[in-house]
Amino acid sequence: MRVLKKGLSYLVLLFASIMVSTAVARIQYHDFVVQATSVKRLCRTRRTITVNGQYPGPTLEVNDGDTLVVSVVNRARYNVTIHWHGIRQMRTGWADGPEFITQCPIRPGGSYTYRFTIEGQEGTLWWHAHSSWLRATVYGALIIYPRQGSTYPFTEPKRETPILLGEWWNANPIDVVNEAARTGGAPNVSDAYTINGQPGDLYSCSSSETIVVPIDKGETSLLRVINAALNQELFFAVANHRLTVVGADASYLKPFTSSVIMLGPGQTTDVLITGDQPPALYYMAARPYQSAQGAPFDNTTTTAILEYLSAPCPSRGMPSTPMMPTLPAFNDTAAAAAFTQNLRSPNSVPVPTDIDESLFFTIGLGLFNCPSNFRTDQCQGPNGTRFTSSMNNVSFVLPSSYSILQAYHQKIPGVFTTDFPAVPPVQFDYTGNVSQSLWQPVPGTKVYKLEYGSNVQLVLQDTSIVSGENHPIHIHGYNFYVVAEGFGNFNPATNTAKFNLVDPPMRNTVGVPVNGWAVIRFVADNPGVWIMHCHLDVHITWGLAMAFLVENGIGELQSIESPPEDLPPC
Ligand code: C2O
Repeated sequence: MRVLKKGLSYLVLLFASIMVSTAVARIQYHDFVVQATSVKRLCRTRRTITVNGQYPGPTLEVNDGDTLVVSVVNRARYNVTIHWHGIRQMRTGWADGPEFITQCPIRPGGSYTYRFTIEGQEGTLWWHAHSSWLRATVYGALIIYPRQGSTYPFTEPKRETPILLGEWWNANPIDVVNEAARTGGAPNVSDAYTINGQPGDLYSCSSSETIVVPIDKGETSLLRVINAALNQELFFAVANHRLTVVGADASYLKPFTSSVIMLGPGQTTDVLITGDQPPALYYMAARPYQSAQGAPFDNTTTTAILEYLSAPCPSRGMPSTPMMPTLPAFNDTAAAAAFTQNLRSPNSVPVPTDIDESLFFTIGLGLFNCPSNFRTDQCQGPNGTRFTSSMNNVSFVLPSSYSILQAYHQKIPGVFTTDFPAVPPVQFDYTGNVSQSLWQPVPGTKVYKLEYGSNVQLVLQDTSIVSGENHPIHIHGYNFYVVAEGFGNFNPATNTAKFNLVDPPMRNTVGVPVNGWAVIRFVADNPGVWIMHCHLDVHITWGLAMAFLVENGIGELQSIESPPEDLPPC
């Protein structure tokens, strides 16, 4: 009897805890209709691919623990997929989204439902198309609040505003990338940067729509800054206001203040600002950080206005032109490095130490000699070449008949190979004067296999081939610790001792310094196929990508789920 009673009270306890957890975790259903919508920017109207007619697309707001079910219907004339940038997708790789990696694209007229649970993540992420250059306009914020009942590790802000930095082309971005693929040259640069879809006061026909962000005297406000630009790293600042950085890529940071932040495409940064200035209008602004030598770029500035709610009307003597922040020069690599070197996890973190896989990948550009069957107008890269790009000398080629994950799961041969090299095939002075004989990579669809649970260290080494450049490298399905970064060639003998194995920041996208390197570590605890790529879309187009194939572990909980029934066919 006593045993029974004890058993019963356990049961009651169990029920109670189930009730609590179901009471807090919700399932959210959303419909995304991908469609062409007329959007007017910079004095002209262009048919633009959007989600639900919105540009930027809808903001998703969830709590940690929630499940998202997003039904995507494709009413556009292009193939499309949606990626949930930074969501770990534990065992649900089929919902990750990159085309021909985890799924075939949703064809015009088709649909697919993405289903996944947010597990142990808090902060600012975003979603975007992962097919050709559609993400130029198909993107939105994905905000993860703490589990119901828990709070931020900083004072609750009075207000929160997503700040999505974007990039606008007057031409159709799909035409821009297709033209570049045809000519082999660099694609046309954008015509504007945007904040929440609006270029702001410094562009023509734009000032009536400039985004206004309110703040009250004395209040603290959280800005969730997302770099959703296609091809450009950006500096961001608010005139006369210090930014207290509290998070990046949906991981909290040890707070520090800075007058300017730098984000590569894919990265997010959460900052607190306080209304501690005379009530007036202040610009928040973003403009390029451009590290590649001699490459053309869109050298313009986007603005929004921080407006004090208590500000007197302009007629009563307040200056009507907002104050402009000082932003670093476009080539100020020291400013970019000074910012990223401040990032630390709030406390000490479990950085993997017994490394099973020690990998070294070069990343950078290249030039293909003009193939003999190509016309000169198809070889408009430098000196009659075609631009390319690679990791460890492999220029990544997407499959077209199956996704890699499908091919792996269904054991379909001939779609990919597992011989992606762990180290560069040839060692050279990566950031020196590289011989032209090393400028031509080999095209291939190669993955690197990782055993479930292995501890991975990866050195990402930029090369000076064509030009060194800061590359925002993003891994799907994982967060990683950035244990070190520096300039020049990585030297294990001298650099290893300086690794931060105590409180390195956790990210999903790391800016590898121009002509430099970054070292990241992670545990391969999420089975599936995960693309790792430069988040400058022009570089993915040229092949700056590879994929990790993480094998299943033991039992169901260490294995990828079965594919959903509506997974689009190729
Ligand atoms: Cu933000 Cu492969 O993506």
